[in-house]
Order: sequence, then structure tokens, then C-alpha cells
Amino acid sequence: MDGEAIIGQLMGREGRADPYPLYRRAHALGAVAPCGPGMAMAVGHRAANQVLRNPAFGVADHGMRADFDPEFLNHSSAVLLSRSVLESNAPHHARVRSLIASVFTARRVAALEPAVVAAVDALLDGMAAQGSDGGPVDFMDGFAFRLPVGVICELLGVPEADRYRFRGLAADLTTALEFIADPSELTAADEAADELAGYFTELAAERRARPKDDLVSALVEVAAADDTRLSGQELLANLVLLLVAGFETTTNLLGNGLALLFEHPEAATGLLDGAVTPAGLTDEVLRFDSPVQLTSRIALAPGLAVEGVETPPGSAVFVLIGAANRDPDRYERPEVFDPTRGDSQPLSFGGGAHYCLGAQLARLESAVAMPALLRRFPRLAPAGPPTRRDRLVLRGFETLPVTLR
Ligand code: HEM
Repeated sequence: MDGEAIIGQLMGREGRADPYPLYRRAHALGAVAPCGPGMAMAVGHRAANQVLRNPAFGVADHGMRADFDPEFLNHSSAVLLSRSVLESNAPHHARVRSLIASVFTARRVAALEPAVVAAVDALLDGMAAQGSDGGPVDFMDGFAFRLPVGVICELLGVPEADRYRFRGLAADLTTALEFIADPSELTAADEAADELAGYFTELAAERRARPKDDLVSALVEVAAADDTRLSGQELLANLVLLLVAGFETTTNLLGNGLALLFEHPEAATGLLDGAVTPAGLTDEVLRFDSPVQLTSRIALAPGLAVEGVETPPGSAVFVLIGAANRDPDRYERPEVFDPTRGDSQPLSFGGGAHYCLGAQLARLESAVAMPALLRRFPRLAPAGPPTRRDRLVLRGFETLPVTLR
């Protein structure tokens, strides 16, 4: 099977359900392989890292997309995301990223730990109440979604009453990050984008009138003082990105993590007796079943090559994070889930200019939540088969039913 066939199958239903057999085939083709006209895929850990860290590989930004496919402009979901840091290049990218990064300082995130501990306890109380009759509880809805959405909304300053509508909206919006065959599949994504943009337009206006000590107020103030630092459109796009990126992926980290603990009871025991550290578990879950499986870059300069494969200007490189995380040249026993391996260094948070701004926060949430969950419910067990979301890029469960005793 060549690179083109592998990418094609990854985008199909079976590839989305379980991409790992296809990644193994991709590794057999080498660290980088052509996968269609003007396209290559980076599957080796070093190759993927090189692409992410080289600023000569940029993201497909608003201007490029509009040139390449004018139809793009008819989809508010794709347009909204293209105005965020995730899909912008230098110099816009550095200007806006530094504003957001000034809030996600290591010190500020570390100071959130007591609030995360309290939120975890409250959610475990909620699960206990829900499962008190011995019936099943959906871990995804009852915990994995609620913890990160609560934390990011607290940071942003989104009122508590509004939070629970975001799960469906984020799921719909992020369809725009997947490979889709037919643009009509973006209808729900566009509706979600319009609703989220409308929501933050109102919240921004409220905070402009009556600022609070939160991230929406801080960014609104920057935009109001000088819209060349942050335009109104960029403000909205990045507020929506922060909300959605702030919980969608972390929800999947928690869900993928619990499913792996069910499959590997020795890891769960190790977490309770100290043989497995919460940080080691988190890194290995990220490596073994990454919530973000793939990103892509465009070669912006002439003369670029990755591991000997030339990438002419304008060509696309798919960075297969989930494959790089299981690169047999980088990891011993790459297909074995081993939270004691100690050298995971997964590429799950990306690398280089777009390295995830929420990595420390996501790690904190997982490291607090997983041991607390097992301590509270020592007999936690699956209550029927979980259902996966039918996604390639953002990998996680829709439902993960559990019993508490
Ligand atoms: C960027 C993964 C949690 C905010 C990224 C990227 C990845 C990623 C792979 C880079 C994409 C690329 O290079 O194309 C994850 C994973 C998470 C997580 C796996 C959880 C397990 C979070 C959280 C937040 C967040 C909690 C916010 C609080 C962002 C932002 C960017 C980003 C704003 C864009 C950075 C930029 O373009 O400069 N994330 N993320 N993420 N992430 Fe995360």
C-alpha cells in the first residue's frame, strides 16, 4: 500500500475507527512518504518534529485558503477558525499568540491546582449521586467533559449557567478541522460557529461595559485600546478557539485515559500504589492514543526537504502525530502501553510556533483527575461498550459508560 492509499483509508470510516494498523503500514514506507500530487506525510517522530519546528512550514491561513478554494469563504466555521492563532502565520501569529500566552503563564496555571482539585471532587460527588442506584454513568458527559469545560470557562469568565451547551457546539464546530468529502457536511459546523461567535460578541460587549478579572475582559481591553494589536474578528475567533481547544481535547485525554486503564488494570493499580506517576500516566496516554492525531503544514519556501524527501513551495505535509508517537525508530515496544516508560515525549501537543498553549493545563487536569477517580471509586468498571466519535483528527469517545461499584 502506498502513501496515497494510506491517507485515503485513514480518512475512511475504518481508518477513523482505528488508524493504528494503517500507521504501522505507513512506517514501513519510511519517515516521510509522498501521498498524492504535491503532498507528503511525515510519520517518523523526528521528521514530524522537524516539520512542526521549522517556520518555513506554515499553516494554511485565511489568505491561502481563500485563494485555493473560494468556496471556503461561504463556511463560517472554516472562516472563524482561520482567523485564530491556530491557522495564522507570522507576523500575525506571534502578535496574537503573545497576548494569549501572557495569560497562560506557568505560574498562573500552577496556581489553578487547588481549583482543579476542588472541581474534581465536586464532579466525583456528582457521579456518585448519579450512580448511587448501581446504574451506569456516562463518564464522558458526567466527568470528562465537565472538568475541562469548567476550568476553561472559569479562566475565560464564561458564566456557569452557559457551560453545558458547549459540548454539542464544539463537536459540531470541530468537524471543520476534519477531512470532509462534501462541504455540505459543514452545515452544522457553520451553525455552531455562528452561535459561538454570537455568544462571545455579547459576552465581550458585557465585559467591555463592566470588566471583570477574567480572560475575556483582558482580551477585550486590548482590542478596544488598539485594534491593530487585536482586531474585533481576531478577538472573537480566538475566544472561540480557547473555549473549544480548552476542553474538547482534554475531554478526550480523560476518556482515552480511562479506557486504557480499563484495558490495563496493572496501570490502575500502579497509579494507586505509586508505581505509576500521574504525570507518567498522562504522557503515556497522550503518546499511545493522542487526542489530536494529525495536523498539516504548507511548505512556504523553496529548497525544503524532510528526511531527504523534497517538499516544493505550496506542497502540503500531513504530520501524523498518532503515527509519530508509535515510531519504532523512536520507541522501544511502541505498541505497548507502558506508563512507566519515562521517555514518552509525545508529539501530541505539537511543537514549534504553534505548540499547544494549554499543554500544562491539560496535563494538570489529567494528573489530578485520574488518581482521584480511582481512589474514589476503587471498583470502577466498564458498563457496556464505549462509543467512539467518528473522527480522525480529534480522537475520543462519545460515550464511556461505567459502573461505580
Ligand atoms: C494548539 C493539542 C489542550 C489551547 C494545539 C496543537 C496541538 C494541541 C497538537 C497544535 C496544532 C498545530 O500545530 O497545528 C492539545 C491536546 C490537548 C490540548 C492534545 C489536551 C490533551 C489545550 C487546552 C487549551 C489549548 C486545555 C487551552 C486552555 C490551544 C491553543 C492552540 C493549541 C490556543 C493554538 C496555539 C497556536 O496556534 O499558537 N493544541 N491541546 N489546548 N492549543 Fe491545545
